[in-house]
Amino acid sequence: VIDATEKIVCPSFVDLHVHFRDPGQTYKEDIESGSKAAVAGGYTTVVCMPNTQPALDDVPLIRYVIERGEEVGLCRVLPAGAITKGRKGRELTEMALLKDAGAVYFTDDGAPVMDSFIMRKAMEYAGSIGSFVADHCEDLNLSQNGVAHEGEIAAALGLPPLPPEAEDTMVARDCVLSIQTGMPVHICHISSRLAVEIVAWAKAMGAKVTAEVTPHHLYLTDEEFLDFSCVAKVSPPLRTHEDIEATRWALASGIIDFVATDHAPHAHHEKMQDLQVCPPGMLGLQFALPIVLELVKKDYMDLTRLVEVMSTNPAKKIGLRPPQIKVGETAEFTIFDPFETWEVNEDTILSKSKNTPLLGRKLTGKVKYTFYNGKIVYKD
Ligand code: DOR
Ligand code: ZN
Ligand code: ZN
Ligand code: ZN
Repeated sequence: VIDATEKIVCPSFVDLHVHFRDPGQTYKEDIESGSKAAVAGGYTTVVCMPNTQPALDDVPLIRYVIERGEEVGLCRVLPAGAITKGRKGRELTEMALLKDAGAVYFTDDGAPVMDSFIMRKAMEYAGSIGSFVADHCEDLNLSQNGVAHEGEIAAALGLPPLPPEAEDTMVARDCVLSIQTGMPVHICHISSRLAVEIVAWAKAMGAKVTAEVTPHHLYLTDEEFLDFSCVAKVSPPLRTHEDIEATRWALASGIIDFVATDHAPHAHHEKMQDLQVCPPGMLGLQFALPIVLELVKKDYMDLTRLVEVMSTNPAKKIGLRPPQIKVGETAEFTIFDPFETWEVNEDTILSKSKNTPLLGRKLTGKVKYTFYNGKIVYKD
């Protein structure tokens, strides 16, 4: 018997954007450690990004992710296929074959090198087979070697600035291409106020545009650089209070469709490197619930919307039946305590890597149980 007094029972969460580094960089994370972090965060479905080594650009690699996830058995681990071979931005992958093998969508996340011509072809191909492309929107000519959002903090600390236009212009481009082709596009990790307004405009035009936001872009600002250096480095960068406010309202109102963590583990020695060379990215799977719950407590949204943005909407986006609160074999739900406070530290983080500016901080909202396929896969 499970005592759920004063707890909330809700459909388990679905994360369409995680980096499990498997195959190739399993010292950072692998499908097993990533699955453990996922279920501890209340997730039972995750979609792995294809920026593995090698990239997920052929059928055996797509099958590997699915089969390894089933072997681990804690949650549903699905792959996103690469849009271009080797994620080099030139030649499209055989998306139809990858889709048949189980790729749930297509992205070159982390390698924003696709020119507009190939992006349009990718949208048309993916759309024509009933799938979609997702874009990490960044114009490298504008971002150059920037590491921090261009603003007061970057100026005060003398950090190479990364202007928000690097994101905004590419979001606008993708929206225009989607309108012109009539095909869907998904905007990964939207983070700037203007980008949010562009998506709102595109949706008003009837475009098949969807967008996700990360927990860190809903919660942290570039002020993190005052206490952390590389640990605060992420792509797109942490921005300002105004940007956070814009993404919160957009998530509450439906301009942004759902939360995705962009869970990006990196080893300690990598994050200790010089700011210019260290890899961008931070963990997310175990922090999403407390961060979105805070938006409920601060009255941006209600619990019904929390379930939509954490579970139902991302599930529908990939054609998955939303998780069900049931008894029996298909039970797939999470029980959390909305008031329990816990500390983020090396022990409570279940990922192999510990890279997050939240280290040492307290969060409120704790997953107590996660059920998948009718079984308990996580117990606090
Ligand atoms: O911060 C990021 N980390 N952004 C990306 O696009 C890639 C990701 C990673 O793979 O570490
Ligand atoms: Zn990205
Ligand atoms: Zn401030
Ligand atoms: Zn990513």
